[in-house]
This record gives sequence, structure tokens and C-alpha cells, in this order.
Amino acid sequence: MRLCLAVVLSCILCARLRALQPHGRLFPSPSPSKTGGGLLKGMRHRYGVSGPLDASASASVASSVVDVGVPTGGIQLHEVVDVPDSGRAAPSFDWMAHWYPIAPVSCTDKERPFSFTLLNQPLVIWWDEPKQEWRCALDRCPHRMAPLSEGRIVEGNVECPYHGWRFEGSTGGCTAIPQAQPDTPLPIGTRACATIFPCQEQQGLVWVRPTPDTQQQHGGGAEAGWPAMLTSETVDSEQPNAVTFDSFRDVPYDYATLFENLIDQSHVPITHHGSASSRKKAKHLPLRMTRPASERGFEGVYEDSEERVETVFRAPMYQHHNATRKGYSLTALHYCVPMEPGRARIIGRITVKFDNGGPVVGLLRRVPLWLVHLFALRSLDDDNIFLHVQDRRIAAAGGPGKLPQNYYLPTATDLYVAQFRTWVKKWGSNGPWGFEPLEGLTKLTPRSELLNHVDSHIIHCTQCLKALKTMNSLKGYLRVGVLLGIIGASRLAGKMAWYSGGGMVACAMAMAAISAIENALKYGPEIPMRNK
Ligand code: FES
Ligand SMILES: [Fe+2]
Repeated sequence: MRLCLAVVLSCILCARLRALQPHGRLFPSPSPSKTGGGLLKGMRHRYGVSGPLDASASASVASSVVDVGVPTGGIQLHEVVDVPDSGRAAPSFDWMAHWYPIAPVSCTDKERPFSFTLLNQPLVIWWDEPKQEWRCALDRCPHRMAPLSEGRIVEGNVECPYHGWRFEGSTGGCTAIPQAQPDTPLPIGTRACATIFPCQEQQGLVWVRPTPDTQQQHGGGAEAGWPAMLTSETVDSEQPNAVTFDSFRDVPYDYATLFENLIDQSHVPITHHGSASSRKKAKHLPLRMTRPASERGFEGVYEDSEERVETVFRAPMYQHHNATRKGYSLTALHYCVPMEPGRARIIGRITVKFDNGGPVVGLLRRVPLWLVHLFALRSLDDDNIFLHVQDRRIAAAGGPGKLPQNYYLPTATDLYVAQFRTWVKKWGSNGPWGFEPLEGLTKLTPRSELLNHVDSHIIHCTQCLKALKTMNSLKGYLRVGVLLGIIGASRLAGKMAWYSGGGMVACAMAMAAISAIENALKYGPEIPMRNK
């Protein structure tokens, strides 16, 4: 049964990647040229502009549409739209004013506080059971700076692990100091309070806005001048004929490097060859912008006779590819959450809507989440090592500010990448931390750490932890089975000895299979599938 489910799930995940693959025609072979001969030579096209994402961006977008069919130089980063060479063209982007998803609710532990670093700020998040709300505070006790995330939840309050001070989650007020003199009122000044951040649950995700909630205003995000990044593309998992899978992982590269990888469909046949795709499918993707980069993001489309793939980027960190194919549509959406310079969390959601679902929808809804995570983790293992090295090389080569000199983009398949980098520079204040901190990030993480799923996912995921615990228990029972089999085979005679021996072998094989699954869940393959 498990094997059957795994095969079905594999098909879905492969379908996800295949749906994002090119089916267009190859460019004509490049002809030699004294000037360097880019592949786009002679193939000039103009963006199809159907209007900016919002009225305020109208003027700048309309005036910034330029021809990108550059014959010899390819796509020029930061020149796809009219970005001045110096100075900022747009008001400074306020990264702190946005809402960020930090974890799928289905994977979080409501019994314990947990930590998360968002935009360089250490946070503690916990579930306030009496008030039925998620809470978020700076992960630093006002007493002597111990991390509150190492403590526990008591009646909806978070308790510091060091001296037991407690804080409630709506204002951060101190509700207990075990060392205080009896009958003495607790301190009420701000120095005795935890620093609270707005936190809410939407669409099955926990969201945080990294600006301290001094006004105690919750929800919406409208007060910051930007809408909360909540999307309508996903579907309710209860909707007929649709199934949704959530996953997440922390990655050792910057938000922009992660974003670039996920928006780039052209790498799938190469990077994921042997796991979810094939090199034979690598082709030219005639990407077309339907809404070029503006302060709110961009939209583009790829279309051929078999499918239509729409791609959307919404500032600052949301993207999705929506593929419509015969019999179903598939949305692969990703949030690239900036944790700190050189580190990000990917939160992914795949939604498949079948024209006629039938029993397959019911079957897919029964796939355990840990198995979905196993496939998602292994899929990202294909990219993880070279993305980390690429990220640190970008840093060593002068940081993202030098990308126009260091990236060479001769084909239109890099159009979304160029548009994204344009957004970062023109509207995104050079990213969450500017370019400078990234320039110092040159040290490489050991390969074994990059392949380790435990720290990057499992310790944050209740579903995977539970699955590993169950596997461990099963192995314990099977060990007893092996032992009994050995005793039976050595002490009994005739058929009973054979039965005992057979049982022992079956238990040993089951143990080996469970160990292999356990290993695959915890670690990525040393050699990626594409190179085997
Ligand atoms: S450091 Fe938190 S109670 Fe002392
Ligand atoms: Fe998991």
C-alpha cells in the first residue's frame, strides 16, 4: 500500500516539475559572429504589456518597457527596465512592513514554543491555547536575554527557561516572576515586557510581521500601506477534485538566490535529470512578460500547443507557476522567506486540480505528509549544493551589485531572473539587507551539512519527527522478531525451523527497508541522481 502511494506521489511531484518544463522549439543554431553572436541575434520581440499591477506603477512601467531582443549582449541585468546607474529610482522598500509566512500549521508543535529567525531578528512563536491564537515575541527574555524558545508554554504564556519569568502574548506583559517577594506587584514597565510582533494564521500557514506590535494592531497589514501577502491561488484542501501538499526547508543561501532558482523553469530538465525529469527535455522557453516588473512584482507566461504556464511574482517573496494541461491544472507556489544574510526558508505548496478527480483525489489525500516532505527534500537536494556554492561565489565576486558584470544571459529563458534582479535593485532597496552584508559571505558549508535534512527541516517538523519515532518503534519490534526467528530456527525442527528462519529473514528485510526510508528522510544522496 505504502509503495503504491509512493508511486502515485512520485508521479504527482514529477508532474509538478514536468509541468514547469519547456515544450517550445529550440532556438535556431547560433551562427558565429565577430561580435560574440548571442542566441537572440535577429530575434527581436517586445514585451506584451497588459497593464501594470497597480495604478501607481502605471507611469513608470509604461515608460520603462524596452526591447529585450538584444542581438549580441543578451538580457542585461538591471537594464531590462530603465534603472538609473546611480541612486534609487523608487522610495526605499520597507521589508519590515510585510507579512511573512514562517511555517505550515500542519507541521508545527502547538505544545512547545519554537524559534525562527526572520529578517535577522530571533523570534519565538507559540500557540496560546486559551485565546486560540498564535503569538510571536522577540526571542530574548527582558530579564537576562535568555532565549524564550527554550522554555515552555504555561496557560497560554511563554515561560523563560532560565528563571521562569512568564509573558503573555498580546502585550508581552510579565505575568510571573518566581523570585519576586510575595505580595509584591509585578513590574509593568516596558523593560519588564517581552517585545511582541503581529502574528496570525491564514491559509494553513503561520504569518508574522517583523515590526514590533507596539499598537497591538493585529491582522490585515493594510496599516503598513501594503496588503498582507495572502494569496487566492491556493485552494482549500476540502475542495472537490483538488489536493494540496505543503512543505518547507531552510536553505544555506540568500533569499534572492533561492528565488532565482524557483522562478527559473529552464533548469529543471538538467538539474533534476534522473529524479523528476530528463536532459532530453531541455529546450528554449520563449518566456513573455504580461506585466513587466513594477514595485508590486511581475507576471509572465509561457505557452505552446500542450500547455500554458503562467508565472507570477509578488513582492517581496511570493511566486507561483500555474500550469494548465489536459485533465488537470497544477499550481506550484513558493514563499522565499529571508531569514538572515545567506539563509532563507522555502515554504512550498503544490495544488493539483483534476478535471475529474475520482478515487485518485481520495488516495492522494491519504498520503502521509512526511512522505510528501521526503520527496520535496530529495527534490531540493538536486539543487542545494550548487546553489550554496553559487551564492557564496556571488558574494566573493563582489556581491549582487556586481551581477550585471558577472551574469551573462544570452537567452530569453532568463527573462524572469533578469526581471527579478531588476525588481530587487529598482524597487526592493537592494534586498532585505542591501548588498553589502552579502559581500562578506564567502565561507562554504561542508557538503555533509548541506545534505543533512535534520537541522534544515526535521527538527522543525512534527510530522517527520512523528514518522521517525514510529519507524524507530517498528524497528524495535522487528528486532525482537529477528531474535525470535534465530532462536526458533536453531531450537525447532522440521517445518517450524523453516518458518522461524523465514520469519527472521522477513523481519530483517523489513528492518533494512525502514532503515533505508529513515536514511532517505534524514539525508540527501551523496551523488545526485543526474550524475548516477
Ligand atoms: S533570563 Fe529569562 S527569566 Fe532570567
Ligand atoms: Fe516534515
